[in-house]
Amino acid sequence: MEKASGFGHPGGVSDAWTPDSWRDHPADQQPDWPDLSLLEQSLKTLANLPPLVFAGEARSLRSALGSVAAGEAFLLQAGDCAESFHDFSADSIRDKLRVILQMAVVLTYGAGVPVVKLGRIAGQFAKPRSSPYEIVDGVELPSFRGHVVNDDAPTPEARVPDPGRLLTAYHQSASTLNLLRAFTKGGFADLSQVHVWNQQFVADSPGGRDYEALAAEIERALRFMRACGVDLAGAALHQVDFWTSHEALILGYEEAMTRRDSLTGDWYDTSAHLLWVGERTRRLDGAHIEFLSGVSNPIGAKIGPSAEPETVVELCDRLDPGRDPGRLTLITRMGAGKVAAKLPVLLRAVRDSGHPVVWACDPMHGNTFVGAGGRKTRHFDHVVAEIREFFAVCREEGVWPGGVHVELTGDHVTECLGGTDEILENDLDLRYTTTCDPRLNGRQSLDLAFQVADLLRH
Ligand code: PEP
Ligand code: CO
Repeated sequence: MEKASGFGHPGGVSDAWTPDSWRDHPADQQPDWPDLSLLEQSLKTLANLPPLVFAGEARSLRSALGSVAAGEAFLLQAGDCAESFHDFSADSIRDKLRVILQMAVVLTYGAGVPVVKLGRIAGQFAKPRSSPYEIVDGVELPSFRGHVVNDDAPTPEARVPDPGRLLTAYHQSASTLNLLRAFTKGGFADLSQVHVWNQQFVADSPGGRDYEALAAEIERALRFMRACGVDLAGAALHQVDFWTSHEALILGYEEAMTRRDSLTGDWYDTSAHLLWVGERTRRLDGAHIEFLSGVSNPIGAKIGPSAEPETVVELCDRLDPGRDPGRLTLITRMGAGKVAAKLPVLLRAVRDSGHPVVWACDPMHGNTFVGAGGRKTRHFDHVVAEIREFFAVCREEGVWPGGVHVELTGDHVTECLGGTDEILENDLDLRYTTTCDPRLNGRQSLDLAFQVADLLRH
């Protein structure tokens, strides 16, 4: 296959783009696979396996995100920081889905805007790391890079990258997606189930009680409409559109999952509906941007506090040369207290460049710190503060605050501080189970949804 860089073409996607043209660009954060023939075998097998999502679904998400870009809908992107090969059960998938459904109902009913539901799920297995090595209990080990690469156990053997994991990640993604499809289309996500989504430990909290009241109102409204003779049989009340996303980090995996759509002839990365590029891998001359520039999925890009307006506009030119609403979502992760200084200039530059992007706020990754006991954590108040700052700045600039991007679990974990439960540093050890970053638990997630609904209403 002819390979050319494609870099520097003014129109963005160059004619020379191919699923493997990223290989001619510097690729950050790629594992040092010890056995290249085994890697090749795994990638070959992957390339022959069925796609996980269809191009038409990715196009539907792109059109839904187009409504967000137009200020007519809100994006809720949520899920694990890193999915785990060890914690993989129907219950954990169900509980994650139901907290996302609860949040979406709070946002839709509470604020009156349609919510685009996008999971960090069914493929979120790869993690960028700030250093190739980490110290665990005084021992230096190769960093854990997500279960698609190596294992988190603190031994040198566990940390060796294993290409067989690429296939395990595919199969776990397929099973997860299968269950999500069943739940969202098969009755579990039916609006008549709003009460059932409230797990016991959530229902007992103040947010859970507010949610019960809201669910009762929805049920009353449904009864009212039925009594008036409104036909409620359509899919809108009984099924949910739920999409998947992950960071497109391990480019061999993404390349192997990239297929040409038979309907349009366009290339799609069929490993998820939306792929995003992380803060650490979005250099303009890099392999990740080259790869994502050529697939037709909706794309996300993380934008941290060091991003310059010119760079962000160039990123838009590379990823959204056609200025298509829904193609590009910029996910800002500045840190509470930094938004007012960093974001307005970016909002203006992108607006002036004519790229109709979705602006979403990730209030998690700029607010991580290591607590006194050595646990990585985040404070609920900082998370809320960054979202408030995001809304305020967007409104000042006349830009639609299009969404939030959060790390959460349905479980009753103690990973993030604060919230109505007032989780304290001493509590972190109680139920700290994340494989990577600290997640909001079910109660904190629901509380957050009520606060965001409030912001959307006012
Ligand atoms: C993430 O979303 O898990 C992540 C690593 O984010 P960022 O690239 O913004 O640091
Ligand atoms: Co994370």
